[in-house]
Amino acid sequence: MSKKDLKFNSKTIHGGQHPDKAYGAVMPPIYQTSTYAQTTPGGHKGFEYSRSANPTRTALENALASIENGIYGLAFASGLSAMDAVIKLLNPGDEVVSTNDLYGGSYRLFKQIFEKYGITFHFVGMQSVDAIEEHINDKTKLIWVETPTNPMMNVIDIKAVSDLAKKHDLLLAVDNTFATPYLQRPLDLGADIVMHSATKYLGGHSDVVVGALVVKNKDLADQLYFIQNASGAVCGPMDSFLTLRGIKTLHVRMQRHCDNGKAIAEYLVKHPKIEKVYWPGFENHPNHDVAKSQMDDFGGMISFVPKGSSYEEAIKIVEKLEVFTLAESLGGVESLAGHPASMTHASIPKEEREKSGVVDSLIRLSVGIEDVDDLIADLEQAIG
Ligand SMILES: Cc1ncc(COP(=O)(O)O)c(C=O)c1O
Repeated sequence: MSKKDLKFNSKTIHGGQHPDKAYGAVMPPIYQTSTYAQTTPGGHKGFEYSRSANPTRTALENALASIENGIYGLAFASGLSAMDAVIKLLNPGDEVVSTNDLYGGSYRLFKQIFEKYGITFHFVGMQSVDAIEEHINDKTKLIWVETPTNPMMNVIDIKAVSDLAKKHDLLLAVDNTFATPYLQRPLDLGADIVMHSATKYLGGHSDVVVGALVVKNKDLADQLYFIQNASGAVCGPMDSFLTLRGIKTLHVRMQRHCDNGKAIAEYLVKHPKIEKVYWPGFENHPNHDVAKSQMDDFGGMISFVPKGSSYEEAIKIVEKLEVFTLAESLGGVESLAGHPASMTHASIPKEEREKSGVVDSLIRLSVGIEDVDDLIADLEQAIG
Protein backbone atom coordinates (compact mmCIF):
# COMPACT_ATOMS: atom_id res chain seq x y z
CA MET A 1 0.00 0.00 0.00
CA SER A 2 1.37 3.43 -0.93
CA LYS A 3 1.90 5.82 1.99
CA LYS A 4 -0.02 8.40 -0.07
CA ASP A 5 -3.21 6.34 0.34
CA LEU A 6 -3.06 6.15 4.14
CA LYS A 7 -5.95 7.40 6.24
CA PHE A 8 -5.46 10.51 8.38
CA ASN A 9 -4.73 8.63 11.62
CA SER A 10 -1.88 6.80 9.88
CA LYS A 11 -0.60 9.82 7.96
CA THR A 12 0.11 11.65 11.22
CA ILE A 13 2.59 8.86 12.01
CA HIS A 14 3.92 7.76 8.62
CA GLY A 15 3.00 10.49 6.11
CA GLY A 16 6.05 11.62 4.13
CA GLN A 17 8.37 9.77 6.55
CA HIS A 18 11.24 7.36 5.80
CA PRO A 19 13.81 5.75 8.10
CA ASP A 20 16.91 7.95 8.26
CA LYS A 21 19.45 7.16 5.53
CA ALA A 22 22.49 6.94 7.84
CA TYR A 23 21.49 4.24 10.39
CA GLY A 24 17.80 3.63 9.73
CA ALA A 25 16.72 5.70 12.74
CA VAL A 26 12.91 5.56 12.88
CA MET A 27 12.67 9.13 14.15
CA PRO A 28 14.82 11.57 12.17
CA PRO A 29 17.89 12.61 14.14
CA ILE A 30 18.13 16.23 15.26
CA TYR A 31 20.62 17.35 12.62
CA GLN A 32 22.07 20.12 14.75
CA THR A 33 24.29 21.54 12.04
CA SER A 34 24.43 24.76 10.05
CA THR A 35 26.44 23.37 7.13
CA TYR A 36 27.34 20.19 5.20
CA ALA A 37 30.68 18.97 3.77
CA GLN A 38 31.02 19.16 -0.01
CA THR A 39 33.46 17.03 -2.05
CA THR A 40 33.69 19.69 -4.76
CA PRO A 41 31.72 22.97 -5.04
CA GLY A 42 28.12 21.81 -5.33
CA GLY A 43 29.10 18.19 -4.53
CA HIS A 44 26.76 17.46 -1.59
CA LYS A 45 23.95 15.09 -0.62
CA GLY A 46 21.08 17.51 -1.10
CA PHE A 47 21.85 19.78 1.85
CA GLU A 48 24.31 22.67 1.78
CA TYR A 49 23.26 25.21 4.43
CA SER A 50 20.55 24.81 7.07
CA ARG A 51 18.70 28.05 6.28
CA SER A 52 18.00 26.61 2.81
CA ALA A 53 17.24 23.07 4.05
CA ASN A 54 17.98 20.83 7.01
CA PRO A 55 17.10 17.09 7.07
CA THR A 56 15.10 17.32 10.34
CA ARG A 57 13.13 20.28 9.01
CA THR A 58 12.58 18.49 5.70
CA ALA A 59 11.10 15.52 7.60
CA LEU A 60 8.69 17.92 9.36
CA GLU A 61 7.84 19.71 6.09
CA ASN A 62 7.01 16.36 4.44
CA ALA A 63 4.76 15.42 7.38
CA LEU A 64 2.98 18.80 7.18
CA ALA A 65 2.32 18.35 3.45
CA SER A 66 0.97 14.85 4.06
CA ILE A 67 -1.49 15.66 6.87
CA GLU A 68 -2.91 18.68 5.02
CA ASN A 69 -3.35 16.69 1.77
CA GLY A 70 -0.91 19.07 0.09
CA ILE A 71 2.29 18.50 -1.86
CA TYR A 72 4.75 21.08 -0.52
CA GLY A 73 5.29 21.87 3.18
CA LEU A 74 7.34 24.74 4.63
CA ALA A 75 8.26 25.16 8.29
CA PHE A 76 9.02 28.55 9.83
CA ALA A 77 10.28 30.05 13.09
CA SER A 78 6.70 30.97 14.15
CA GLY A 79 3.16 31.16 12.85
CA LEU A 80 3.61 34.89 12.26
CA SER A 81 6.75 34.36 10.18
CA ALA A 82 4.82 31.86 8.04
CA MET A 83 2.16 34.57 7.49
CA ASP A 84 4.91 37.12 6.83
CA ALA A 85 6.16 34.88 3.99
CA VAL A 86 2.68 34.74 2.44
CA ILE A 87 2.25 38.54 2.48
CA LYS A 88 5.70 38.89 0.87
CA LEU A 89 4.19 37.27 -2.24
CA LEU A 90 2.44 40.65 -2.74
CA ASN A 91 3.63 44.02 -4.06
CA PRO A 92 3.04 47.61 -2.94
CA GLY A 93 -0.43 48.68 -4.11
CA ASP A 94 -1.93 45.20 -3.67
CA GLU A 95 -4.94 44.67 -1.43
CA VAL A 96 -5.99 41.87 0.90
CA VAL A 97 -9.44 41.04 2.27
CA SER A 98 -9.00 39.51 5.72
CA THR A 99 -11.23 38.04 8.42
CA ASN A 100 -12.01 40.84 10.91
CA ASP A 101 -12.06 38.63 13.98
CA LEU A 102 -8.58 37.15 13.93
CA TYR A 103 -5.59 36.56 16.18
CA GLY A 104 -4.34 39.95 17.45
CA GLY A 105 -0.75 39.32 16.32
CA SER A 106 -1.97 38.59 12.77
CA TYR A 107 -3.85 41.90 12.75
CA ARG A 108 -0.73 43.69 14.07
CA LEU A 109 1.47 42.10 11.37
CA PHE A 110 -0.92 43.24 8.62
CA LYS A 111 -1.59 46.74 9.99
CA GLN A 112 1.68 47.77 11.60
CA ILE A 113 4.24 46.01 9.42
CA PHE A 114 2.80 45.56 5.93
CA GLU A 115 0.55 48.61 5.55
CA LYS A 116 3.64 50.84 5.62
CA TYR A 117 4.95 48.95 2.58
CA GLY A 118 1.84 49.98 0.64
CA ILE A 119 -0.32 46.88 1.07
CA THR A 120 -3.93 47.59 2.06
CA PHE A 121 -5.96 45.26 4.29
CA HIS A 122 -9.75 45.24 4.56
CA PHE A 123 -11.01 43.52 7.72
CA VAL A 124 -14.42 42.03 7.02
CA GLY A 125 -16.92 39.79 8.82
CA MET A 126 -16.79 36.78 6.51
CA GLN A 127 -20.07 35.09 7.37
CA SER A 128 -21.46 36.46 4.10
CA VAL A 129 -19.64 36.00 0.80
CA ASP A 130 -21.33 39.18 -0.49
CA ALA A 131 -19.61 41.18 2.27
CA ILE A 132 -16.26 39.86 1.06
CA GLU A 133 -17.07 40.53 -2.59
CA GLU A 134 -17.92 44.17 -1.80
CA HIS A 135 -14.26 44.73 -0.88
CA ILE A 136 -12.78 43.07 -3.97
CA ASN A 137 -11.42 45.38 -6.66
CA ASP A 138 -8.77 45.08 -9.37
CA LYS A 139 -5.96 45.56 -6.80
CA THR A 140 -7.12 42.65 -4.61
CA LYS A 141 -4.72 39.70 -4.67
CA LEU A 142 -5.41 37.63 -1.57
CA ILE A 143 -8.23 36.57 0.75
CA TRP A 144 -7.06 35.70 4.26
CA VAL A 145 -9.42 33.45 6.23
CA GLU A 146 -9.09 32.35 9.85
CA THR A 147 -11.71 29.74 10.83
CA PRO A 148 -12.83 29.05 13.50
CA THR A 149 -11.89 32.59 14.47
CA ASN A 150 -9.84 33.50 17.50
CA PRO A 151 -11.46 34.12 20.00
CA MET A 152 -15.11 34.50 18.85
CA MET A 153 -15.38 31.02 17.33
CA ASN A 154 -17.10 32.22 14.15
CA VAL A 155 -16.95 29.71 11.31
CA ILE A 156 -16.33 30.77 7.71
CA ASP A 157 -17.46 28.66 4.75
CA ILE A 158 -14.11 27.82 3.11
CA LYS A 159 -15.66 26.27 -0.02
CA ALA A 160 -17.87 29.32 -0.64
CA VAL A 161 -14.92 31.72 -0.17
CA SER A 162 -12.77 29.53 -2.41
CA ASP A 163 -15.41 29.74 -5.20
CA LEU A 164 -15.35 33.52 -4.80
CA ALA A 165 -11.52 33.59 -4.89
CA LYS A 166 -11.52 31.53 -8.08
CA LYS A 167 -14.16 33.76 -9.69
CA HIS A 168 -11.88 36.80 -9.14
CA ASP A 169 -8.59 34.94 -9.70
CA LEU A 170 -7.36 35.58 -6.14
CA LEU A 171 -5.24 33.51 -3.80
CA LEU A 172 -7.03 32.07 -0.79
CA ALA A 173 -5.03 31.39 2.39
CA VAL A 174 -6.60 29.72 5.43
CA ASP A 175 -5.22 29.82 8.97
CA ASN A 176 -6.05 26.28 10.13
CA THR A 177 -4.51 26.63 13.60
CA PHE A 178 -7.71 26.12 15.62
CA ALA A 179 -9.18 23.21 13.66
CA THR A 180 -6.04 21.36 12.49
CA PRO A 181 -6.31 18.91 9.57
CA TYR A 182 -7.83 16.38 11.98
CA LEU A 183 -11.03 18.45 11.79
CA GLN A 184 -10.79 20.43 8.56
CA ARG A 185 -8.70 20.26 5.38
CA PRO A 186 -8.77 23.66 3.60
CA LEU A 187 -6.81 22.54 0.51
CA ASP A 188 -9.49 19.91 -0.19
CA LEU A 189 -12.08 22.71 0.02
CA GLY A 190 -10.26 24.78 -2.61
CA ALA A 191 -7.81 26.95 -0.62
CA ASP A 192 -4.39 27.63 -2.19
CA ILE A 193 -2.41 27.98 1.03
CA VAL A 194 -2.98 26.51 4.47
CA MET A 195 -1.15 28.12 7.37
CA HIS A 196 -0.56 27.06 10.97
CA SER A 197 0.78 28.34 14.17
CA ALA A 198 2.29 24.87 14.76
CA THR A 199 3.09 26.23 18.22
CA LYS A 200 -0.47 25.19 19.05
CA TYR A 201 -2.16 21.83 18.32
CA LEU A 202 0.40 20.46 15.83
CA GLY A 203 3.26 20.70 18.34
CA GLY A 204 0.69 20.10 21.06
CA HIS A 205 2.92 20.27 24.15
CA SER A 206 3.55 24.01 24.62
CA ASP A 207 7.27 23.52 24.07
CA VAL A 208 7.95 25.11 20.65
CA VAL A 209 7.17 28.21 18.59
CA VAL A 210 6.86 27.06 14.97
CA GLY A 211 4.88 28.04 11.86
CA ALA A 212 3.84 26.13 8.78
CA LEU A 213 2.55 26.57 5.25
CA VAL A 214 1.31 23.85 2.90
CA VAL A 215 0.43 24.28 -0.79
CA LYS A 216 -0.26 22.08 -3.82
CA ASN A 217 0.83 24.36 -6.67
CA LYS A 218 4.50 24.10 -7.71
CA ASP A 219 4.90 27.75 -8.82
CA LEU A 220 3.44 28.99 -5.55
CA ALA A 221 5.64 26.57 -3.59
CA ASP A 222 8.74 27.80 -5.45
CA GLN A 223 7.92 31.43 -4.65
CA LEU A 224 7.38 30.58 -0.98
CA TYR A 225 10.58 28.47 -0.75
CA PHE A 226 12.43 31.42 -2.26
CA ILE A 227 11.01 33.78 0.39
CA GLN A 228 11.66 31.23 3.18
CA ASN A 229 15.34 31.03 2.21
CA ALA A 230 15.79 34.68 1.24
CA SER A 231 14.14 36.08 4.39
CA GLY A 232 15.43 33.24 6.56
CA ALA A 233 12.74 32.83 9.25
CA VAL A 234 13.23 29.06 9.49
CA CYS A 235 12.70 26.84 12.52
CA GLY A 236 15.69 25.02 13.97
CA PRO A 237 16.28 21.25 13.96
CA MET A 238 15.29 20.75 17.62
CA ASP A 239 11.97 22.55 17.16
CA SER A 240 11.40 20.63 13.90
CA PHE A 241 11.93 17.35 15.77
CA LEU A 242 9.57 18.29 18.60
CA THR A 243 6.84 19.44 16.19
CA LEU A 244 7.17 16.24 14.17
CA ARG A 245 6.88 14.22 17.38
CA GLY A 246 3.78 16.22 18.30
CA ILE A 247 2.13 15.54 14.93
CA LYS A 248 2.44 11.78 15.53
CA THR A 249 -0.20 11.97 18.28
CA LEU A 250 -2.31 14.78 16.78
CA HIS A 251 -5.30 12.56 16.02
CA VAL A 252 -5.48 11.05 19.53
CA ARG A 253 -5.03 14.39 21.26
CA MET A 254 -7.52 16.21 19.04
CA GLN A 255 -10.29 13.71 19.73
CA ARG A 256 -9.85 14.18 23.48
CA HIS A 257 -9.74 17.99 23.04
CA CYS A 258 -13.07 17.73 21.17
CA ASP A 259 -14.70 15.43 23.76
CA ASN A 260 -13.56 17.56 26.71
CA GLY A 261 -14.50 20.76 24.83
CA LYS A 262 -18.05 19.51 24.25
CA ALA A 263 -18.51 18.55 27.92
CA ILE A 264 -17.24 21.94 29.11
CA ALA A 265 -19.28 23.96 26.60
CA GLU A 266 -22.40 22.08 27.74
CA TYR A 267 -21.52 22.67 31.40
CA LEU A 268 -20.95 26.41 30.88
CA VAL A 269 -24.07 27.03 28.84
CA LYS A 270 -26.25 25.67 31.66
CA HIS A 271 -24.42 27.62 34.38
CA PRO A 272 -26.62 30.33 35.95
CA LYS A 273 -23.65 32.71 36.33
CA ILE A 274 -22.64 32.53 32.64
CA GLU A 275 -24.23 34.83 30.07
CA LYS A 276 -22.85 33.66 26.73
CA VAL A 277 -20.84 30.69 25.49
CA TYR A 278 -19.22 30.67 22.05
CA TRP A 279 -18.64 27.16 20.67
CA PRO A 280 -19.55 26.05 17.12
CA GLY A 281 -20.96 22.72 18.30
CA PHE A 282 -24.15 24.34 19.65
CA GLU A 283 -27.09 23.96 17.28
CA ASN A 284 -27.98 27.62 17.81
CA HIS A 285 -24.44 28.82 16.97
CA PRO A 286 -24.98 31.13 13.94
CA ASN A 287 -22.56 29.11 11.77
CA HIS A 288 -23.32 25.64 13.15
CA ASP A 289 -24.42 24.23 9.77
CA VAL A 290 -21.21 25.36 8.06
CA ALA A 291 -19.16 24.01 10.96
CA LYS A 292 -20.97 20.68 10.73
CA SER A 293 -20.38 20.38 7.02
CA GLN A 294 -16.72 21.42 6.82
CA MET A 295 -15.41 20.16 10.19
CA ASP A 296 -15.41 16.60 11.51
CA ASP A 297 -15.95 17.77 15.11
CA PHE A 298 -15.96 21.11 16.95
CA GLY A 299 -12.59 21.35 18.70
CA GLY A 300 -11.53 22.31 22.19
CA MET A 301 -11.63 26.12 22.01
CA ILE A 302 -14.45 27.89 23.85
CA SER A 303 -15.04 31.54 24.75
CA PHE A 304 -17.53 32.78 27.32
CA VAL A 305 -18.79 35.87 29.11
CA PRO A 306 -19.92 35.86 32.78
CA LYS A 307 -23.39 37.24 33.67
CA GLY A 308 -23.59 41.00 33.62
CA SER A 309 -20.56 41.06 31.29
CA SER A 310 -18.43 42.25 34.16
CA TYR A 311 -14.69 42.78 33.60
CA GLU A 312 -14.02 42.35 37.34
CA GLU A 313 -15.90 39.05 37.41
CA ALA A 314 -13.93 37.75 34.39
CA ILE A 315 -10.61 38.65 36.02
CA LYS A 316 -11.73 37.04 39.30
CA ILE A 317 -12.54 33.79 37.48
CA VAL A 318 -9.24 33.54 35.58
CA GLU A 319 -7.27 34.34 38.74
CA LYS A 320 -9.05 31.61 40.72
CA LEU A 321 -8.54 28.78 38.21
CA GLU A 322 -6.08 26.15 39.43
CA VAL A 323 -6.05 23.30 36.89
CA PHE A 324 -6.47 25.72 33.96
CA THR A 325 -3.35 27.87 33.74
CA LEU A 326 -3.78 31.56 33.01
CA ALA A 327 -1.47 31.95 30.01
CA GLU A 328 -1.13 33.07 26.40
CA SER A 329 -1.33 30.40 23.70
CA LEU A 330 -3.55 27.34 23.16
CA GLY A 331 -3.58 23.83 21.76
CA GLY A 332 -1.31 22.13 24.30
CA VAL A 333 -2.18 19.04 26.33
CA GLU A 334 -2.72 21.26 29.38
CA SER A 335 -5.81 23.43 29.73
CA LEU A 336 -5.21 27.17 29.48
CA ALA A 337 -7.42 30.17 30.16
CA GLY A 338 -6.89 33.60 28.66
CA HIS A 339 -8.34 37.09 28.83
CA PRO A 340 -8.19 38.13 25.14
CA ALA A 341 -8.76 41.88 25.68
CA SER A 342 -5.63 42.22 27.81
CA MET A 343 -3.58 39.29 26.46
CA THR A 344 -3.79 37.73 22.96
CA HIS A 345 -5.85 40.56 21.43
CA ALA A 346 -4.43 43.58 23.28
CA SER A 347 -2.72 44.72 20.05
CA ILE A 348 -6.13 45.36 18.43
CA PRO A 349 -7.58 48.79 19.36
CA LYS A 350 -10.49 48.45 21.86
CA GLU A 351 -13.01 49.96 19.43
CA GLU A 352 -12.04 47.50 16.64
CA ARG A 353 -11.90 44.60 19.09
CA GLU A 354 -15.38 45.24 20.48
CA LYS A 355 -16.90 45.43 16.99
CA SER A 356 -16.20 41.71 16.62
CA GLY A 357 -17.36 40.85 20.17
CA VAL A 358 -14.03 40.80 22.02
CA VAL A 359 -15.39 42.63 25.06
CA ASP A 360 -13.39 43.17 28.25
CA SER A 361 -15.35 40.42 30.05
CA LEU A 362 -14.60 37.67 27.51
CA ILE A 363 -12.67 34.61 28.72
CA ARG A 364 -11.12 32.12 26.28
CA LEU A 365 -10.46 28.50 27.20
CA SER A 366 -8.13 26.10 25.44
CA VAL A 367 -9.50 22.85 26.82
CA GLY A 368 -6.71 20.32 27.33
CA ILE A 369 -6.75 16.56 27.56
CA GLU A 370 -6.85 16.15 31.36
CA ASP A 371 -9.72 14.28 33.06
CA VAL A 372 -12.76 16.37 32.23
CA ASP A 373 -14.20 15.97 35.75
CA ASP A 374 -11.17 17.82 37.13
CA LEU A 375 -11.60 20.59 34.58
CA ILE A 376 -15.29 21.04 35.38
CA ALA A 377 -14.58 21.01 39.14
CA ASP A 378 -11.96 23.72 38.57
CA LEU A 379 -14.41 25.92 36.64
CA GLU A 380 -17.06 25.27 39.32
CA GLN A 381 -14.84 26.55 42.13
CA ALA A 382 -13.64 29.54 40.08
CA ILE A 383 -17.09 30.66 38.84
CA GLY A 384 -18.59 29.95 42.29
C1 LIG B 1 -4.93 31.55 14.98
C2 LIG B 1 -3.52 31.97 15.14
N1 LIG B 1 -2.79 32.28 14.06
C3 LIG B 1 -1.50 32.67 14.16
C4 LIG B 1 -0.87 32.78 15.38
C5 LIG B 1 0.57 33.22 15.45
O1 LIG B 1 1.41 32.13 15.65
P1 LIG B 1 2.80 32.17 16.47
O2 LIG B 1 2.47 32.61 17.86
O3 LIG B 1 3.30 30.77 16.36
O4 LIG B 1 3.67 33.15 15.75
C6 LIG B 1 -1.58 32.45 16.54
C7 LIG B 1 -0.94 32.57 17.86
O5 LIG B 1 -1.59 32.59 18.89
C8 LIG B 1 -2.94 32.04 16.42
O6 LIG B 1 -3.68 31.74 17.50
